[in-house]
Amino acid sequence: MSTDAAVRSCPVALPTDRTDPFDLPPELAVLRAEAPVTRVELPAGGWAWLVTRHSDVARLLRDERLSADPTRPGFPFVRPGLRAAARAENRAGQFLRMDAPEHTRLRRLLTGDFMLREIRRLEPEITAMVDTLIDGLAGGEADLVSQFAFPLTSQVICRLLGVPYADHEQFQGRSRQLFSRRHSEADTQRFAAQLQAYMGALVDAKAAAEDPGDDLIGRLVRRHLRRGEVDRDEIVGIALLLLVAGHETTANMIGMAVLTLLEHPGQLARLRTDGGLAGAAVEELLRYHTIVHFGVPRVAVEELTVAGQTIRPGEGVLALLAAANRDPAVFADPDAFDIGREARHHLAFGFGAHQCLGQQLARAELRIALLGLLRRLPDLRLAVPARELSYRTDMATYGVHALPVRW
Ligand code: HEM
Repeated sequence: MSTDAAVRSCPVALPTDRTDPFDLPPELAVLRAEAPVTRVELPAGGWAWLVTRHSDVARLLRDERLSADPTRPGFPFVRPGLRAAARAENRAGQFLRMDAPEHTRLRRLLTGDFMLREIRRLEPEITAMVDTLIDGLAGGEADLVSQFAFPLTSQVICRLLGVPYADHEQFQGRSRQLFSRRHSEADTQRFAAQLQAYMGALVDAKAAAEDPGDDLIGRLVRRHLRRGEVDRDEIVGIALLLLVAGHETTANMIGMAVLTLLEHPGQLARLRTDGGLAGAAVEELLRYHTIVHFGVPRVAVEELTVAGQTIRPGEGVLALLAAANRDPAVFADPDAFDIGREARHHLAFGFGAHQCLGQQLARAELRIALLGLLRRLPDLRLAVPARELSYRTDMATYGVHALPVRW
């Protein structure tokens, strides 16, 4: 049997079990060293080529022979929920899972709103939100996930989009359910429909108003809907994509960032004495955890070869950002957490055409949240040992379900 045939016929299960909450499943380091492109069985059924080296992941995510469109045959689904997201009725505006030219058309409508300059303008408001949330933490004990990280990132994305924060329980609960690997396809479809109905009503109200407002949805209505460049369902889909992608990821990253710093007192002390390290610390935290921990899925539309392995049209690919970000060929001593390292070329926000649109916003939120917590709560410490926390191993984004702290 040729090597190619042997690899194709003997898939291993996608490694998902961690032995340490701060490290990846140990099999991944072995695969990265010995079989950097290998066939794996996926938890939701089917199989894909698992790609684990930084150079291969970066190259593939720029390769137009791979598609992000989940309606194509062979597209790999790590979670059953993604299958529901692939249905035609859920796809309008969801450019994360589209290819050029549709992806380019929709993404271009938003790039101005997410540029560094625009995000800088929001920073004073984010700082005020951080301070108000810290003011509200009473009694010397709190869960930083539910009482700080989620409220902060939801308030920020609501402010940006023009969604009333008073409705946050509706969309926060639904989007949490969308991210869970536990729900069936039918459940996920129901949650998606509820979110669409909620956002549809909001967009309709703005479209009917004489002045749709100077928030992102209002601007899409005024600049693009009224000129016929997008339709109503596309705006609903774009707003939902931003709402869901924008708060869940960053909230989990804030939780993991605080936990990681508290568990590395030497690094925490460095950051406390030199706030100028905050930007580098944020990059290292993003690299170290890479919370989109099951990677990004694609399907080949043409034959291509990577690391000597042929990938045929219709075969799925899972670009494992988390394994790439621990690649010793790129990051010295990659399993060490070191805020002094140069980590900016990490792939935690993906790479290529779909690289995270909200990355400057996420960076600003993380930096402001961390500096605010360190400044205002100098005695911050865990209320339970890190090993007793409940980790989001079952969710599309890694993190902690709760982070009980004292100060
Ligand atoms: C720490 C926080 C975040 C992480 C780790 C993260 C991670 C990612 C990753 C890995 C991708 C690429 C997915 C792929 O290639 O299939 C992505 C895309 C995206 N992210 Fe983020 N993200 C974060 C925060 C945000 C925020 C705050 C927003 C919006 C307000 C956002 C909006 C988006 C959008 C719209 C896309 C799709 C881009 C496209 O397809 O062109 N993300 N994100």
